[in-house]
Amino acid sequence: MAEVIIVADKAAAGALVAEEIARLVRTTPDVVLGLATGSTPLPVYEALPALLDGVDVSRVRGFALDEYVGITPGHPESYREVIRREVIEPLGLDPARIRVPDGSLDGIEHAGEDYERAITAAGGVDLQILGIGTDGHIGFNEPGSSFGSLTRVKTLTEQTREDNARFFDSVDDVPRHCITQGLGTILRAKHLVLLAFGAGKARAVAAAVEGAVTASVPGSAIQLHPHVTVVADEAAAAELANADYYRYTFANKPAWQGI
Ligand code: PGA
Repeated sequence: MAEVIIVADKAAAGALVAEEIARLVRTTPDVVLGLATGSTPLPVYEALPALLDGVDVSRVRGFALDEYVGITPGHPESYREVIRREVIEPLGLDPARIRVPDGSLDGIEHAGEDYERAITAAGGVDLQILGIGTDGHIGFNEPGSSFGSLTRVKTLTEQTREDNARFFDSVDDVPRHCITQGLGTILRAKHLVLLAFGAGKARAVAAAVEGAVTASVPGSAIQLHPHVTVVADEAAAAELANADYYRYTFANKPAWQGI
């Protein structure tokens, strides 16, 4: 079962997850981080610089979850740019060690395989940060995605395009295709940390954590992984049937256990 930690707010979630990432960087300087984009991981990225102050981050490696296909290189909402702006620069990471799937049309047929090879060559992802879409997607694995899927091109649902329209001038500007790590790729990471905030995520969180394991809810793939931490605020946790048990478990957690 995933460990579910219900926190007061985004800042508390950010501090908790950033603490674990900082611990990893201190103990494993060439740690491989799985980086998510969107609004959800921002509290983690915002908490990290203070915790990494004075820590050597020059060898930290990272792999983003996904990228839009065909988006103009340098577009501020391409995930390559988002990762540069929100992660690489504030944390002072080496850009050469941080990969984002290549969404350019030229070579898109083999971009997924290239990405998988790079992750494997790096020894796999140590800690994968995840958000969850209102439709239950993780990465950009929309409902119906195979649990065995690897990095590949997917078609975004209209729901996801509408959810992401806030980052663009209009919904028409949101690309229709993406290249995303598959559920099979995500499941290979050593530790999954899924964050969720706000009432809009409550249904997806409950379905992913407590519902049936089904490709119709890609987030439910986390139930197949041996080490998952779900960090949710009260609103996102509101539909969890076992919320009291999760609170009790966390309150009584042995001090020697990390997340
Ligand atoms: P969000 O997106 O963090 O912007 O809410 C999450 C997701 O789509 O995975």
